[in-house]
Amino acid sequence: MKGLILAAGRGTRLRPLTHTRPKPVIRVAGRPIIHYAVENLLEAGVEEIGVVVSPETEGDLRLALEGYPVGYVLQEEPQGLAHAVAVARDFLGGSPFVLYLGDNLFQKGIRPYLEAFQEGVSAVIALVRVADPRQFGVAVLEGDRIVRLLEKPKEPPSDLAVAGVYVFSEEVWEALGDLKPSARGEYEITDAIQGLLDRGKKVVGVEVQGWWKDTGRPEDLLDANRLLLEELSPRVEGEVVESTLTGRVVVEKGARVAGSTVIGPAFIGEGAEVEGAYVGPFTSLGPGARVVGSEVEYSILEDQAALEHVALRLQESILGVGVKVRSRNGLPRAHRLVLGDLSQVELA
Ligand code: DAU
Repeated sequence: MKGLILAAGRGTRLRPLTHTRPKPVIRVAGRPIIHYAVENLLEAGVEEIGVVVSPETEGDLRLALEGYPVGYVLQEEPQGLAHAVAVARDFLGGSPFVLYLGDNLFQKGIRPYLEAFQEGVSAVIALVRVADPRQFGVAVLEGDRIVRLLEKPKEPPSDLAVAGVYVFSEEVWEALGDLKPSARGEYEITDAIQGLLDRGKKVVGVEVQGWWKDTGRPEDLLDANRLLLEELSPRVEGEVVESTLTGRVVVEKGARVAGSTVIGPAFIGEGAEVEGAYVGPFTSLGPGARVVGSEVEYSILEDQAALEHVALRLQESILGVGVKVRSRNGLPRAHRLVLGDLSQVELA
């Protein structure tokens, strides 16, 4: 069994965070999203792993995955999930494989889907009940068997959304060969699965255990950060001086917390600095991030991001790599902003 992680998308709904970096390298609970995918595959015994990258995302992904036993497959243009699978055909060869969307998070890993595949079926799809399935693939089940699959239907026939893990037998190649681009101009994996169903093949749905997250929007990233921080084991490897740490807090090596209050769950990354500050629950600071003379909670600060001497507490915020937010002293009492395209700022 091989594994294929898709990480060649444009991440348009997460701009501006994804203007310069691909979504799977954004950190949640201190680690790039894609680490969780690789680890879930390894944990399930899938050891030959390919990552589909685009010319724009390749560099960042190679950096984020340094030291991990993975290979890379280049998809020149993000023409759809089925297209991404097709470009990886040489890597996948004739063996069954797990397809894992690189921006999806599964709390309890992927073993149940691999186990269901051992029953001798053509494909297994992870499914999850959601309140509004219109932004997902949607399945219709009879028993555990999928009888129909639709991509982002306006009127969903069920509340069972397709979560981003699929297990395929070699039979999928025949269905992939027939595909035409969908209304949104992409080669859809959903259509390939429907192709298997049209050929009378057995495709089963297995409901996700524990939580699942598609990290498509900023609020999803913050929620994923919260969920992962909930599972944190406290650990202090950095320096803590005249500070109070309450609850589950990680202070990584080289980090410094001084004259501050940190209430967990919270993650203070390698080399980060917290000084005269309050870091509240569900906050992750990336490597080298700084919070000085400020308060922050339920937020993500990426690598080298800084929050300095800001009077009002920052909440539900995501600061990208190298972002600086600081107060401005002196007159005029005005905001001074240098924001990249599509930045979003809410001022009190
Ligand atoms: O998250 C679950 C949903 O993922 C499913 O319910 C849908 O059926 C499935 O089509 C997919 O929908 P999305 O619209 O969310 O897919 P997205 O374009 O976000 O791509 C998912 C991942 O695949 C993302 O990490 C980028 C990568 N990708 C995407 C495209 C279009 C590629 O590597 N190549 C591509 O061509």
